[in-house]
Amino acid sequence: MNELFSNRISQVSPSFIREILKVASDPAIISFAGGLPSHDLFPVAALKKATIDLFNDNKEDILQYTNTEGYLPLREIIAATYKKKGLDINADEILITNGSQQGLDLLGKVFINENDSVLIEEPGYLGAIQAFEIYAAHFIPIPVGQDGMDIDVLKIQLKTAHAKLIYTVPNFQNPSGISYSNENRKAIAETLSSVNTLIIEDNPYGDIRFSGEEKKSFMHYLPKQTILLGSFSKTVVPSFRLGWIVAPKAVMQKLVIAKQAADLHTNHFCQCILHRFLQDNDLQTHINKIISVYSHNKARMEKAFVKYFPKEVTHLKTQGGMFLWASLPKGMSTKGLSDEAIKEKVAIVPGEPFYINKHEINTFRLNFSNSHPDVIEEGMRRLGKVLYKYIENNE
Ligand SMILES: Cc1ncc(COP(=O)(O)O)c(C=O)c1O
Repeated sequence: MNELFSNRISQVSPSFIREILKVASDPAIISFAGGLPSHDLFPVAALKKATIDLFNDNKEDILQYTNTEGYLPLREIIAATYKKKGLDINADEILITNGSQQGLDLLGKVFINENDSVLIEEPGYLGAIQAFEIYAAHFIPIPVGQDGMDIDVLKIQLKTAHAKLIYTVPNFQNPSGISYSNENRKAIAETLSSVNTLIIEDNPYGDIRFSGEEKKSFMHYLPKQTILLGSFSKTVVPSFRLGWIVAPKAVMQKLVIAKQAADLHTNHFCQCILHRFLQDNDLQTHINKIISVYSHNKARMEKAFVKYFPKEVTHLKTQGGMFLWASLPKGMSTKGLSDEAIKEKVAIVPGEPFYINKHEINTFRLNFSNSHPDVIEEGMRRLGKVLYKYIENNE
């Protein structure tokens, strides 16, 4: 059978995280592994009401095929939200996608030929690595730290490689939780302004800010070269699979063709429900609830980090999102840590899959959105025990 598969699919490995999540689904395990939003915060009653109201009103043909670009009133709401943030984006520059994950796939389809160079922040979102791997991208990793991307490495790489795309998650990055400073964004934009490279700003976490000032979108600095990806997965519900792409007109035309071929259009019924929900409810009030719960969870995790973990284990600072990014002492790999943690009934994700062809990585990711604070405390206590032993055995 194997000889029947395309080269395209044969070269892509299954997501390592999915494998961990399978193990972590055991209810006895406290999981910091996944990247799930909290189930308790799904606006169930409001979505139920929106659905019933839609059927009762019978105004729209909510069960019919529709256009590829997406439900116009929904795109208008998204455009209005950008306008409030000072970005002049119109509904016709927005394509509704099946989650922002489909946005990544469509961008891969539209831009990447085999071996085309794609710059990617490192550590970087595993789903983006997987999506572009399908199109046989040649990845060039650019390291990110507490304040953003390493500009010197970026400049060097841009001199030698002609990269069509650069992929970033500049707000509360997955996996590291860091955000690019405005200075870093400006420097990246200045560097890119003289080359023919498009920057992808993938922003599923930007609205989940606990503290600090909102940062500027790359769209402010580099409007003609920026592609934005957005998502309702973390602010409303992930099961609707509703996200979007904002792209220049010429790119949008190609994306629409690629989407037509992929699925004709995104689920129209869910688009209508979401639109009704957004019309009848204040999304910011709902997001404020999410912020309040997640920031409390994060504070509890940070406190437990200090209380239970060996002092050689550190983490980067984050002002929002869903993750803490922890490091063991330099040179110590987290490869075996996940298995040891599972034995103590707690799940984490080791750093390795978030890097391009790098091994013996000393980082790991902790998710704080999907566990109650008391469960976080207990999970961190268990993990602390594992870490003391692990460091002792690996020194
Ligand atoms: C950085 C990043 N981009 C995209 C996605 C995909 O999200 P969606 O549910 O919108 O497809 C995720 C999901 O966790 C993510 O972390």
